[in-house]
Amino acid sequence: MNEIAQDLNREILRDNPHVYELLSELGKNLYYPKGILTQSAEAKQKAHRFNATIGIVTERDQPMFLPLIQETLANYAPKDLYPYAPPAGKPELRQLWREKILIDNPSLKGKSFSIPIVTNALTHGLSIIGDLFIDENDALILPDKIWGNYNLIFGVRRGAKSITFPFYTKEGTFNTSGMKEALLSNKERGKAIILLNFPNNPTGYTPNELEAVEIVEALKEVAQQGVNLVVIADDAYFGLFFEDSIKESLFARIANLHPRILAIKVDGATKEDYVWGFRVGFITYASEYPAILNALEKKTLGIIRGTISSSSHPSQTIVLKALQSPDFQTQKQEILDVLTKRALKVKEILKQEKYRDAWDYYPFNSGYFICLKLKGVQAEVLRNHLLDQYGVGLISLGESDVRIAFSCVEEQDIEQLFDLIYQGFKDLAV
Ligand SMILES: Cc1ncc(COP(=O)(O)O)c(C=O)c1O
Repeated sequence: MNEIAQDLNREILRDNPHVYELLSELGKNLYYPKGILTQSAEAKQKAHRFNATIGIVTERDQPMFLPLIQETLANYAPKDLYPYAPPAGKPELRQLWREKILIDNPSLKGKSFSIPIVTNALTHGLSIIGDLFIDENDALILPDKIWGNYNLIFGVRRGAKSITFPFYTKEGTFNTSGMKEALLSNKERGKAIILLNFPNNPTGYTPNELEAVEIVEALKEVAQQGVNLVVIADDAYFGLFFEDSIKESLFARIANLHPRILAIKVDGATKEDYVWGFRVGFITYASEYPAILNALEKKTLGIIRGTISSSSHPSQTIVLKALQSPDFQTQKQEILDVLTKRALKVKEILKQEKYRDAWDYYPFNSGYFICLKLKGVQAEVLRNHLLDQYGVGLISLGESDVRIAFSCVEEQDIEQLFDLIYQGFKDLAV
């Protein structure tokens, strides 16, 4: 059991053992991790210069947004805000999101996939997939660079057994053979769940065309060897591609690939459309059989009905209106241009010789983040030092990695940010 959970249980036991006895096994195992949100909260207090911890996009210390959304907030009809939305979500929104998925992912043409079901953003979507497909000790195949919340969603809540593989090869490409090896290490169980998150949090990496072809081929080969696979595409940062990566979701290529593979797309407006707090996400299933799509939709609705009942209606209405707006693409492109400039600036700065002794950076081409691998200074020690001495907030991940959200640092400040990180590093390096 996690140490934080044990501490919480001890406190409950100390004051009233009866309350402890009432807890379910899941209740006993639950805790609130000291992860990104805790580090972000600390940065909010101390990072008076740069706060590069949060997965949102800011400019002049304000969240960026699409003006077309902000301007219309007072204009909605009460019927589009106040009544319950159906548990599966507003039908027009679901239909439009499906059309958007098809336009964004040409490989889906001619394939059979469901109408997306609305969730309370991606975390909820992932957690539904966990409920539907993961039993205690089922293998969850993950790279070693992941969004930390998967541990709570799939590990603590569902008892999945994580099998990890190194994200990158020595050459800095996606490690498809490591992924295949991890999948086959569990062959005798005949079932595995694999999570593919591109653009990746925390590295900011998306495979290129060749790598994408290899990933799809490897999954097919594993299925051909008799392993049933749930392949989850966590597309939280979909569309934020800056360079030579593929520009579509792997879901599109994995859909209808093999009878033993169930491809699921979990995506949403949260990061893609810069409406983090609106909490609008979607689950989309691929299957050649309409009856299977229908049954999976009904089971998904069963979980929604039995947990949150339905998602927020106003948020769905606002996202629907945005998707319908003629200015939607242009305004999204404007923010993407800002992010692209920042990403390219980061790349230019990281190439500088002077940083060589301090860190390597993991290859990146997409998303909100980049990740550094420090040489000889502990990530958590550097994080605290930067907060205390320089008012700079980063996320530390494990022993030696730090994640920097350039989505929250303006282009003209990026050089100074890295100089401060470097200064902090030098203070600590022996
Ligand atoms: C990879 C990844 N998946 C899912 C999520 C959850 O997104 P949401 O805010 O839509 O629940 C995040 C949020 O940080 C993420 O980084």
